[in-house]
Amino acid sequence: MRWFIYLVTLLLVIFHLVSSQECPSGTPDGCRCQNRVFNCSGLGLNNMPTSLSSLSNFDVIDLSNNDLVNVPLGAFQNLPVQRIILKNNAITEIRPGGFDNLNLLTSINLEMNGLSILEQTGFNLLTSLTELLLAGNPVDCSNDANAWLKSWMVTADSSVLTGDCSSTGTISDALDSVAEPSAAVFSFEKAEYSALESAGVATVTVSRRGIVGTRVDFGVMVSDGVAVVNYDFVAPVDPRHTMLTGQTRMDLDILLIDDAEMEIDESFMVTIAIEARGEANMGTIGTYGTTIVIILDNDSPVQTTSSPVATTSNPESSTQAKGEPTDPGMMMTTDDLNQSPQPNTKSVNVAAIVIPIVLIMVIIAVIAGYIWYRRTRTINKETTAGVRYAAVQNRGKVYADVTAKA
Ligand SMILES: *[C@@H]1O[C@H](CO)[C@@H](O)[C@H](O)[C@H]1NC(C)=O
Repeated sequence: MRWFIYLVTLLLVIFHLVSSQECPSGTPDGCRCQNRVFNCSGLGLNNMPTSLSSLSNFDVIDLSNNDLVNVPLGAFQNLPVQRIILKNNAITEIRPGGFDNLNLLTSINLEMNGLSILEQTGFNLLTSLTELLLAGNPVDCSNDANAWLKSWMVTADSSVLTGDCSSTGTISDALDSVAEPSAAVFSFEKAEYSALESAGVATVTVSRRGIVGTRVDFGVMVSDGVAVVNYDFVAPVDPRHTMLTGQTRMDLDILLIDDAEMEIDESFMVTIAIEARGEANMGTIGTYGTTIVIILDNDSPVQTTSSPVATTSNPESSTQAKGEPTDPGMMMTTDDLNQSPQPNTKSVNVAAIVIPIVLIMVIIAVIAGYIWYRRTRTINKETTAGVRYAAVQNRGKVYADVTAKA
């Protein structure tokens, strides 16, 4: 009997130790990390947990039943996650780069939210995505911005798209009658970007909408404004970049030169160029084929002037795509900086500590109880034996007294 109890307890402890995982630091209180599921369901969260970026050991992220209002840039980026559940929030917007580079992701559950438009740039490099659950959203099926869903449905293997149009009918039925996008459209995401001169780098983002199931090379050219090439910023030696299959956006870094002169804020232009090679659907230029980069001067009037000093170590390649596989990274991008090793101060899930301790205490209590039980029984036996012996002796004594008196 007791061995059975020990065995069960031991198995419980082992099961718990195997199945429980530490939630990474930055995880909100109340989240559960177990069996490769990161579960922050039903906690009234208004923002994405900051620990999402370090979920390298989880298959499922469950953020259902919260108060999230959007999926911000890079919220889900480079994670080996297979399923993301955002059901029953108040999400009205998937921002560009919201779901980004999730190679193993097969399913996104966005049921019961407020989405009417799903911008294609929010879904970048999701090569395995086959399930998009949209029931309970007021999806505007007549909006062109949703037309890309049709190409996704056609391209993805046995894709599942659920949900109804805000008007009438199901989304997939409505997509049947929608014209497929006929071209890939390249554009900067914004008409204007700005960067501090001291930051050493300005980041611009090229997006591709419409047809994204192809691999397309494109170029980026810089031209002088008030800011002058090789004095305020560095011209790219190799301005070519590649949009991979399924890629909807790409960040590009342009190196800035930090001089000590006090200047007005200066700007220069960046332009997208698509090689005309006569291939179908290579791409056309969209709204912002050219963007303006404003360099915000950081030099105060009291500073002494000196010759311009480049803070950038390598002016060779000045537009550098982040994570672009075809270009060996020759300079440090902001991505690299973000990925620098974090101090390893993991906050540990309280339950992961408390439960094993409680179980170990239970084992000790069971063993102690058993030993105590064994000892009391022996003492009792001895006591009983002792009493009986005393009684026999007494009887003998009484007998002896009686005989003596007699
Ligand atoms: C997350 O936790 C909730 C509440 O405990 C539960 O209903 C849900 O099934 C869990 N999600 C997953 C994916 O296990």
